[in-house]
Amino acid sequence: MISCKKRAKYTFLLPFLFIFFVFSSAFAQAPQEMGVEGKAGVTPAAPAAGAGDGADAGVIDNGMTLFKNNCTQCHSVGADVVVGPGLQDVHKRRSEAWLLKWIKNSSALIQSGDKDAVAVFNQYAKQQMPSFAFSDDELKSIIAYIKKESESPTAAAAPSAGPEGATAGEKVGENAIGNVGGTVDLLLIVLVVVLIVLVITLLIIASVLKNYLKGKGDLTGAEQEMLERRTNFANIYKSKAVRIIVGLIFVVVLVDISIDKVMGIGIHQGYAPRQPIAFSHKLHAGDHQINCNYCHTSVYKSSSANIPSANICMNCHSQIKKESPEIQKIYRAIENNKPIEWVRVHNLPDLAYFNHSQHTKVGGVECQTCHGPIETMEVVAQYSPLTMGWCIDCHRNTPLNTEGNAYYDNLVKLHEKQSKGAFIVASNGGTECSKCHY
Ligand code: HEC
Ligand code: HEC
Ligand code: HEC
Ligand code: HEC
Ligand code: HEC
Ligand code: HEC
Repeated sequence: MISCKKRAKYTFLLPFLFIFFVFSSAFAQAPQEMGVEGKAGVTPAAPAAGAGDGADAGVIDNGMTLFKNNCTQCHSVGADVVVGPGLQDVHKRRSEAWLLKWIKNSSALIQSGDKDAVAVFNQYAKQQMPSFAFSDDELKSIIAYIKKESESPTAAAAPSAGPEGATAGEKVGENAIGNVGGTVDLLLIVLVVVLIVLVITLLIIASVLKNYLKGKGDLTGAEQEMLERRTNFANIYKSKAVRIIVGLIFVVVLVDISIDKVMGIGIHQGYAPRQPIAFSHKLHAGDHQINCNYCHTSVYKSSSANIPSANICMNCHSQIKKESPEIQKIYRAIENNKPIEWVRVHNLPDLAYFNHSQHTKVGGVECQTCHGPIETMEVVAQYSPLTMGWCIDCHRNTPLNTEGNAYYDNLVKLHEKQSKGAFIVASNGGTECSKCHY
C-alpha cells in the first residue's frame, strides 16, 4: 500500500519534468538567436571598443563612419581588391600629404604627373576614383581608421562581409531578421510559461478536490477506487491511445523540421521590407533607364553586389527634386555621416557562397533571371526562393557560356569526347558541394 502511494507521488512529477524539458529547450534556442544578433551588432561597434591606444577613439569612430559611407563600396580596409585596391597599410605606402591630395581630387594628382598616382591609376585599369570634398581633419580621421584597422583588424567575423563591400545596410538587414526571430522566441516562452501556470493550477485544484472528497469519507467502494485511479499517472502512460498520439505528434514535428531543413522552403520568397527611403527601382531603373551597375557598381566585378552609398544618389539629387522630403532624408544622412539604413532583402545563410561576377560577367546571366523584373518594382521583393535546389536546378539546365572564353575550349572538347549531353554548368562541377560551401 505504502509503496504504491509512493509511486503515485513520483509519477505525479513526470509532467513537470516534461514541461521543464520543453521550457529549457525553448530557452536553449534564445541564446543562439542572440548570438546571431550579437554578431551583426558587434561588428560596427567593435573598433570604438578596441581603440584605446594611439589615436583618439572618437576620431577613429568618425573615420569609420566616413569610410563606411563613402569608401566601402570600392575599398576594403584589408588586402582584398573590391573596385579599388585594399587599403591595408596604405599609410605606410603613401605619405599623409599624398593621401590627402589623392582623396580630395585624385585626377588632379594624376594630371600633375605624380609617379605613384599615375602608377596606381594605370594599375586599376584607369578607373576614376570620385573626388571627396572633406576637410583635412575628416580625411585624417579616415586615415586613422585605416591605420587602426591595418594594425588590429576588427574581429575575425568582419571579413565574411567586410572585404566584399558590405554596406551598413546589410548589417541592419541582418539585425532586423534577427529581431523577428527574437520576437517569435519570446512569444514561445510566454506561451510555455502560461501553459505551466495553467497545468499547476489545475493540479492544485485536482488535489484540493481529492482531499476534500477523501475527507468526506462516505464514498462507495467504486467511487473510492476511481479516486485512487485518477491520481495514478502510470496508467495514463501505459494507455495505448496516449502513446499513439504522443508518437504521432513526435513524428509530425520531426518530419516538419526535416522538410524545412532539407528544402529550406521559401520562407523569404516575396520578402519585401519597407525601406527607410521610398526609393523606387521602377522610377530609376525602369522609367529613367539608369543602368543597374551605375548604382550596384561591383556586381560585374566582385562576389557581392553593393548597395550604393548616399554619395551616388547625390550625383543626381544634388540637383533633382531637392525639396522632396524623401530626398531630404539623403541629405540628412550625409550631414550626420550616417549610412542610409537600407533593409537587406536577399540573404543566403553563411554556409553558402555565391559570387555575382561569376554569374553576371562570366556566365552572362541577366539580373532579372534571378531577381525578377526589378525595373518594375516600387519596392524590391525577393523573387527567387534562393534555396539550394534552386541553384542546382539552374546549374543542371543551363549551358555554360563558353563562347570566346579560351579557358573552356579544351574542357568542351574533353566533354564532347566523353559524354553525350550538352556542356552545362553541372558538367563543369556546378553541383559539387565544395563549389558552393566553404
Ligand atoms: C567608385 C569607387 C571608389 C570610391 C567610392 C573610392 N575609391 Fe579610392 N580608389 C578607387 C580606385 C579605382 C582606385 C585605384 C586608382 C584609380 O584607378 O584611380 C582607388 C585608389 C585609392 C587610393 C590609393 C591606393 C594606393 O594603393 O595608392 C586611396 C588611398 C583611396 N583610393 C582612398 C579612398 C578613400 C579614403 C575613399 C572614401 C573617402 C575612396 N577611396 C573611395 C575607387 C574608389
Ligand atoms: C539609382 C540607383 C539604383 C539603380 C539604377 C538600381 N538599383 Fe538596385 N538598389 C538600389 C538601392 C538604393 C537599393 C537598396 C534599397 C532597396 O532595396 O530598394 C537597391 C536594392 C536592390 C536589390 C535588393 C538588394 C537586397 O537588399 O537584397 C536588388 C536585387 C537590386 N537592387 C537589383 C537591381 C537591378 C537588377 C537593377 C537594374 C535593373 C538595379 N538594382 C538598379 C539602387 C539602385
Ligand atoms: C542618375 C540619376 C539619379 C541617381 C543616381 C539617383 N536618382 Fe533618384 N531620381 C532621379 C530622377 C530623374 C528622379 C525623378 C524626378 C522626378 O520625378 O521629377 C528621381 C526620383 C527619386 C525619388 C522620388 C522623389 C519624389 O519625391 O518624387 C527618390 C525618393 C529618389 N529618387 C531616391 C534616390 C536615392 C535614394 C538614390 C541613391 C540610391 C537615387 N535616387 C539616385 C535620378 C537619380
Ligand atoms: C544567378 C542568380 C543571380 C543573378 C544573375 C544576379 N543576382 Fe543578385 N543576388 C543573387 C543572390 C543569390 C543574392 C544573395 C547573395 C547573398 O546573400 O550572399 C543576391 C544579392 C543581390 C544584392 C544584395 C547585395 C548582395 O550582394 O548580397 C544586390 C544589390 C543584387 N543581388 C543585385 C544584382 C544585380 C544588379 C544583378 C545583375 C547585374 C544581379 N544581382 C544578378 C543572385 C543573383
Ligand atoms: C539562372 C541560373 C543560375 C542560378 C539560379 C544559379 N546559378 Fe550558379 N551558375 C550559373 C551559370 C550559367 C554558371 C557558369 C558560369 C561560368 O560560365 O563559369 C554558374 C556557375 C556557378 C559557380 C561556379 C561553378 C564552377 O564550376 O566553377 C558557382 C559556385 C555557382 N554558380 C553558385 C551558385 C549558387 C550558390 C547559386 C544559388 C544561390 C547559384 N549558383 C544559382 C547559373 C546559375
Ligand atoms: C550550386 C550551389 C550548391 C551546391 C553545388 C551545393 N549546395 Fe548545399 N546549399 C546551397 C545553398 C545556396 C544553401 C542555402 C539555402 C538553403 O538553406 O536552402 C545550401 C544549404 C545546404 C545545407 C544546409 C541546409 C539547411 O537548411 O541548413 C546543407 C547541409 C547543404 N547545403 C549540403 C550540401 C551538400 C552535401 C552538397 C553536395 C552534394 C551541396 N550542399 C551542394 C548551395 C549549394
